[in-house]
Amino acid sequence: MFFEPININGLHISNRFVRSATHEWLAEDDGTPTPAIGDMYEELAKYEVGLIISGYSYVNPAGKSSKRQQGIYDDRFIGPYRQITERVHKYGGKISLQVVHGGRQALVTPEYPQTMAPSAVKDSSSGKMPQAMTEEQILGTIEDFAQAVRRAQEAGFDAAQLHVAHGFLLSSFISPYTNRRTDEWGGSVENRTRIILEIIRRARELVGDDFPIMVKMNATDGFGNKGLDAPECVEIAVALERAGVCAIEVSGGIMEAGEVMSRRAVNSPEMEAYFRDYARMIKQAVDIPVMLVGGMRSRAVMEEMLEGGYADMVSVSRPFIREPDLVVKFREGVHEAECTSCNGCFDESGVRCNLGR
Ligand SMILES: Cc1cc2nc3c(=O)[nH]c(=O)nc-3n(C[C@H](O)[C@H](O)[C@H](O)COP(=O)(O)O)c2cc1C
Repeated sequence: MFFEPININGLHISNRFVRSATHEWLAEDDGTPTPAIGDMYEELAKYEVGLIISGYSYVNPAGKSSKRQQGIYDDRFIGPYRQITERVHKYGGKISLQVVHGGRQALVTPEYPQTMAPSAVKDSSSGKMPQAMTEEQILGTIEDFAQAVRRAQEAGFDAAQLHVAHGFLLSSFISPYTNRRTDEWGGSVENRTRIILEIIRRARELVGDDFPIMVKMNATDGFGNKGLDAPECVEIAVALERAGVCAIEVSGGIMEAGEVMSRRAVNSPEMEAYFRDYARMIKQAVDIPVMLVGGMRSRAVMEEMLEGGYADMVSVSRPFIREPDLVVKFREGVHEAECTSCNGCFDESGVRCNLGR
């Protein structure tokens, strides 16, 4: 099934491989994307990755959460992104922009000394206490995301992906651990999902019905039943589909929960695809394509995920950092990615494989 095409709301993708969003630490300080980012995406397109998802791109300067992160909070970014999308399209590749607000995991800077979140729940991993957002801030953030989606479309991206995973702002809204609000933005699953549904509604006014809007979502915060987990994640996925989301990528973990998102030392088939059961639950409940991410290293496990009804696409981050040509290698008979999940690629001087260095 690897090389069967798939369609996401009219977007034709030539195979089932996705490059999961991967921050590169390669943007200018103000978030302008650089040609070095384009080099990476062009290489992935050249080596036939079906769908490339960009590194997370912040929709408001207050939502920046990493050094040298790419931004999409102003129309001035459209031009530089257009140069990047053109490089990918030259090879017939497809590319989505991932859009994010850092929320309680945003950087604290002299300009933005206060993080914000649905509720004032201290982040024990950083010691930061966010401010509970006002209604006005929530409405402003909805507009920020919608405008970011519009800019993505204008820059030639084939889709946009809302980042609703890993503890960033939208993910913190859907989680009962970080969202303790008692107004219409918190409480029930419906209320916790409302901000995302409103973003989609507003974005649709700006980009129309044809532009694919996707979501990468946490199925679990990684805290057991203290945070988001099954079965609520399935209810959220169903609500997202109903609101017009065109594909769901299933992930997990927030910073406070430790290394849940990018587990280390994935070295056996049993350890691979560590969110597989969540993906299958979600896939059984929705009709839109489901992508699975997290620790897939071998051809056999990836095939099992596609053929065993876990997911429609397999999404990979760390292995493509080491081997951007992995799709081609798989087609030529290679069985295993070389990635050892050492996490040396989290390199603030620019993402790279540091295995054995
Ligand atoms: C260096 C690095 C940067 C990442 N940046 C992002 C990001 O910008 N957005 C996102 O959703 N996930 C990000 N992730 C998480 C990956 O997309 C993926 O969910 C996770 O690493 C598990 O997949 P893997 O085992 O194939 O690496 C990043 C991971 C790594 C290693």
